[in-house]
Amino acid sequence: MTDPKILIVEDSRSLQNIIKSRLKSIKAEITVADNGESGLQKARSQEFDLILSDVDMPIMDGLEMCKQLKEDVATRSIPVVILSSMERDSDVEKGFEVGASAYVPKSMAEKLLIGTIEDILHKSFFHKNKIVLVVDDSKTILKLVENGLAKSGFQVLTALNGKKALDLLKNIKPDIIISDLDMPVMNGFELCDRINENPKLSKIPFIVMSANSDRASMRSMVEKGAAAYLVKPFNVEQLVILTEKLLSTQFQLLLKDRERLISERKAMLGSITSLAHALEARDPYTRGHSENVSRFVVSIAEAMNVSKNDIQTLRIGAGLHDLGKIGIPDSLLLKNGQLTKIEKKIFEQHPVIGSNILQPIPSLKEVIPIVLHHHERFDGTGYPSQLKGKKIPIWSRITAVADTYDALTTDRPYRKGFPKEVALQIILEVRESQLCPDCVDAFLEIMG
Ligand SMILES: [Fe+2]
Repeated sequence: MTDPKILIVEDSRSLQNIIKSRLKSIKAEITVADNGESGLQKARSQEFDLILSDVDMPIMDGLEMCKQLKEDVATRSIPVVILSSMERDSDVEKGFEVGASAYVPKSMAEKLLIGTIEDILHKSFFHKNKIVLVVDDSKTILKLVENGLAKSGFQVLTALNGKKALDLLKNIKPDIIISDLDMPVMNGFELCDRINENPKLSKIPFIVMSANSDRASMRSMVEKGAAAYLVKPFNVEQLVILTEKLLSTQFQLLLKDRERLISERKAMLGSITSLAHALEARDPYTRGHSENVSRFVVSIAEAMNVSKNDIQTLRIGAGLHDLGKIGIPDSLLLKNGQLTKIEKKIFEQHPVIGSNILQPIPSLKEVIPIVLHHHERFDGTGYPSQLKGKKIPIWSRITAVADTYDALTTDRPYRKGFPKEVALQIILEVRESQLCPDCVDAFLEIMG
């Protein structure tokens, strides 16, 4: 899947930049427009997978732009997400009235924006490849249903009766058929029968729509194999939801997969964190070390303007950086005195052991470099890979600063912890030899 194309419509330059940096984690190709009219023009001349728009803008506001986008066949299927500081229920309602797919209040943007955009992109990508055939003799209903489905991104075909639908079905295999019952030339009953007889078509979900008086007939259609029925007049939204549901076995599987990944990550993280705690319990001198490092790392990363998502990964990775010590024998880990050469070699295996523990867990893939490279030195003499300078992943460089500081200030079997000022002085002395200068500078800044 290529990177999604997102159009940001926002009149404030500084907000444009904030939104852009917020969207970094989505890896989208981003275009910017300063007002609704320019947004509309761009949407008509280029292809976009999603439009993120402010409401209050000069020349044309976001609501008017959304309305016009939804009225135009060429642009109506582009999902529009409104991001606005107008946060009353009535504002939100107006957004949905003009056809927005979501309305995110600016005050909630940090929490909701990325998830909302990801969900909508995911869904619209799925819809884009789905063809819905709508059969009804009423042009008004056809138009209504067609518009509703097209706005949600589906490809829609229409036919005025069963016979015309069958003609279309000779060349095209839709993913779902929605049909009226009472129609001239060929009614819905016959259409359903003919479709059922054809093994190439019989697996396509068939939705019946008809007036209340036909309820009994509709039920009998369900017995015949129709997937569902809708009583007219129905809300188009209901129809879209039903269509999504019926089409969504695959979508549901994808969603379930994602949910599974998230819950697996949580569960794994839970057990690995308790593993890390168990490790610390073995060694009273390092108790709280992972948590301290994690806390410092987050502050340094914030000072270095790392994105929220990355900070979350960093927090996890930093908390697990010494996980591999679980594979280092007590006699060595708790030794009261200098390590011999061989013992040192064994001890220096801990980043590799930690990374090997995490390797089989797909959801924790991103944190592995932090664990593996937290003992590399900026001058290239660290371990395990002797990476040098900026070849060391930035997250490992940040973790190394926090790790060094916490180690210096904590009591060890062989020495008392240094006071803050002394530890900071030592950190400054190894800036550039052991530690990344940028990370040290950011650290010294937060330590004031
Ligand atoms: Fe370590």
